[in-house]
Amino acid sequence: MNDLFLRACLGQPVERTPIWIMRQAGRYLPEYRAVRERHSFWQMCTIPELCTEVTLQPVDRIGVDAAILFSDILVPLVAMGMEIDFTPAPVMARTLRTEADIESLRSADGSSVFGSIADGVRMLRRELNGRVPLIGFAGAPFTLATYAACGGGSRNQSEIRSMMFGTPDLAHRLLRKLTDAIIVSLRSQIAAGVQAIQLFDSWAGILSAEDYETFALPYAREVLAAVKAVDPVIPRIYFAPGAAGLLDRIGTVGAEVTGIDWRIPLTRAREILGDRTAVQGNLDPGVLLGSPKVIEEKVIRILAEARGAKGHIMNLGHGILPETPVENAAAFVEATHRHSGQKTVDSGQ
Ligand code: CP3
Repeated sequence: MNDLFLRACLGQPVERTPIWIMRQAGRYLPEYRAVRERHSFWQMCTIPELCTEVTLQPVDRIGVDAAILFSDILVPLVAMGMEIDFTPAPVMARTLRTEADIESLRSADGSSVFGSIADGVRMLRRELNGRVPLIGFAGAPFTLATYAACGGGSRNQSEIRSMMFGTPDLAHRLLRKLTDAIIVSLRSQIAAGVQAIQLFDSWAGILSAEDYETFALPYAREVLAAVKAVDPVIPRIYFAPGAAGLLDRIGTVGAEVTGIDWRIPLTRAREILGDRTAVQGNLDPGVLLGSPKVIEEKVIRILAEARGAKGHIMNLGHGILPETPVENAAAFVEATHRHSGQKTVDSGQ
């Protein structure tokens, strides 16, 4: 079994640096587009055979060292009764802004959506048969609150900001409900067999440090602590893109691994985090639109910057772009494997 990824997460020695790619099952893969032409995104998340098929595609095609469950961070909102259309960007039939909106949310406990996804996880573990570990994930409470209040992607996030600063009690009520639903979702994925989890805090980077400590950090910390309570050894990755200014706080969230985007050098991120966590990242997804030669140079640089880290998992600093040539994604994996393997041999001489 290739457990390089799990070992790197836990800061244990590895023969070479493991790699996976955020959004690795996605539109840059022709075989993904072929499935997507025949099925809706939601079917692909909730029909175990489809979820399994697309999750395995990048493992088969580009040889990544981990699979990530094909799903979406917005699933708990659906489990709580929200209707979401993936166009492919998510669009919600209604938003959550008033007390009545928030009170109308159902508890996610026992939702059939989580049952279908757990079936997908079990099928995946059987199909993977130990080839590479399976990562589960969820969105962090603040990020889901932002989507729920804004009704989808948003330019200024005015709706969540007006709630945070106008009616903070309401914002906390929403965050409380979302935290509970996210924990239910992760518990269900873990019970079904995911071997690591990543918490995506995609919108945390809009916050000041003080407001991060009020509206994001405590809830994310609670989710990660709940994961540890159900499984004391499962690696937990926390990733907030565009949040380099918050890294000192992020170091206290309680994850084994911190995701780093490309806007901060890995060496600088490591100085801020110290040896509190392993690191994951941090290639600019745009580099994969360049040539294999440029990709190789950037990989060598990141590996050098990661040298001596508690643990390093190669990844992009955010999701792979749909325009990425498949050969370039493969070149990223190959260069990481080749150069990190050499590094181990060199240092052993
Ligand atoms: O990484 C993987 O391969 C696993 C699958 C995965 C998806 N979404 C599939 C998806 C993961 C880990 C996510 C997380 C996710 N979803 C995040 C956090 C990561 C980040 O980008 O910060 C966010 C913010 C979402 C919300 C969401 N879902 C958006 C913004 C979109 C549109 C994205 C786009 O590419 O246009 C989605 C839809 C979605 N989720 C797609 C995929 C593959 C595209 C759906 C399609 O193929 O039509």
